[in-house]
Amino acid sequence: RERTFVMVKPDAFQRGLVGEIVSRIEERGLKLVGMKLLTPSREQGEEHYAEHEDEPFYDDLVGFITSGPAVPMVVEGENAISLVRDMIGATDPAEAEPGTVRGDLALDIGRNCVHAADAPDTAEREISIYFDADEIETYERNDEGWVYE
Ligand code: GTP
Ligand code: MG
Repeated sequence: RERTFVMVKPDAFQRGLVGEIVSRIEERGLKLVGMKLLTPSREQGEEHYAEHEDEPFYDDLVGFITSGPAVPMVVEGENAISLVRDMIGATDPAEAEPGTVRGDLALDIGRNCVHAADAPDTAEREISIYFDADEIETYERNDEGWVYE
């Protein structure tokens, strides 16, 4: 099944929303196979947002993502990449649908609570920024037969 990279950003961490965000992922039936608590290093932050290097908000973005504890995760499931993108909602919380993480928990584009990979290649790339291969678990979730036909 497909793997994606998801991260609870420092704003959501400071607001005590780790459990809320992780719960939504678990309750959907997705499987957590990697998870850490860490403050991203400068190098990790720059690598994470390399695609936005030329944007005017790049320095603020890297400054923010490295500003304190965050929770990077590897999440597995059928169609996990687009599924989690739909669950987190539009980049700008002002445009995010109610029911999404950003539509329920955030107000500002620069403090939008959560990151999720947007394609298979970015998912693999982002996972490797935060996880070694041996830090990702392989196991059966005991409700898998009830989550998938
Ligand atoms: P991520 O999951 O964090 O990658 O968000 P995204 O994929 O929905 O958006 P994108 O990759 O385009 O942008 C990355 C991050 O940069 C966003 O989460 C925002 O926090 C920030 N960002 C994007 N566009 C803007 C902008 O126009 N202004 C500001 N201040 N921040 C922006
Ligand atoms: Mg993005």
